[in-house]
Amino acid sequence: MSLEQKIDQARAVLKTAEQEFFPSAFASSFGVEDMVLTDLIAREFPGIEIFTLDTGRLPQETHDLMKRVADRYGIRLRIYYPDSGAVERYVNEHGPSAFYDSIALRKECCRVRKVEPLKRALAGRRAWITGLRREQAVTRRELPVSEFDDATGLFKFSPLADWSLIDVWTYVRGRDVPYNALHDQGYPSIGCAPCTRAVAAGEDLRAGRWWWEDPANKECGLHSAATVRAARAADQVTETA
Ligand code: ADX
Ligand code: SF4
Repeated sequence: MSLEQKIDQARAVLKTAEQEFFPSAFASSFGVEDMVLTDLIAREFPGIEIFTLDTGRLPQETHDLMKRVADRYGIRLRIYYPDSGAVERYVNEHGPSAFYDSIALRKECCRVRKVEPLKRALAGRRAWITGLRREQAVTRRELPVSEFDDATGLFKFSPLADWSLIDVWTYVRGRDVPYNALHDQGYPSIGCAPCTRAVAAGEDLRAGRWWWEDPANKECGLHSAATVRAARAADQVTETA
């Protein structure tokens, strides 16, 4: 399939999300895939809200890009932050860089800073949209373009599921779409500053994310059904208590 056909398919998915699943929202981390979707949504699908989860540990380059996107497209991005009390409790109990100490503490940091804010960002929505691609990781090989996401209880659309990295960069460069300056410094995948490093030539695209962990488990929880389900169950317990 040509890139133009893939773009048309992505448009069709976004149109479905906008018209048949209103209100829907696009979760942007401002990685290069998300810049393709930002460009399409900002120009053609104004009914889809764009939001980001600011963990409080993002690199400056990501904040710089947020401003460039707002200036370029004239859109207002919705930014969600972690609950300050939950961050304080975590840091006071475990330390500011406890994510290096164990996988459990790393996942707990991601839960507090990303998964719980995601639940708030998706409240009242019928669908959400992501920039996930199958090629990105072993954990994403089976990713469908659209699915009912058990974890959030919403439809989840991944319009770029079958795009290659070359497709993504061809789109971005061909349309002069802004992108994160870290991509030019050896960072193919960008998350929080302390958990992301540059990769060497030939290394896996996500080798720089949580580089001390096993690739089979390297997800922050946004896309792991069990993690989000657990967070929702904890909420239901609190609500019924
Ligand atoms: S992660 O799970 O390892 O962090 P990755 O960086 O590959 O995910 O991003 C995959 C998709 O998850 C992005 O295309 C985006 O839709 C969503 N996502 C990841 N991080 C964020 C974030 N901080 N804010 C909003 N969406 C995000
Ligand atoms: Fe915390 Fe690192 Fe997860 Fe960011 S990526 S939320 S700093 S563990």
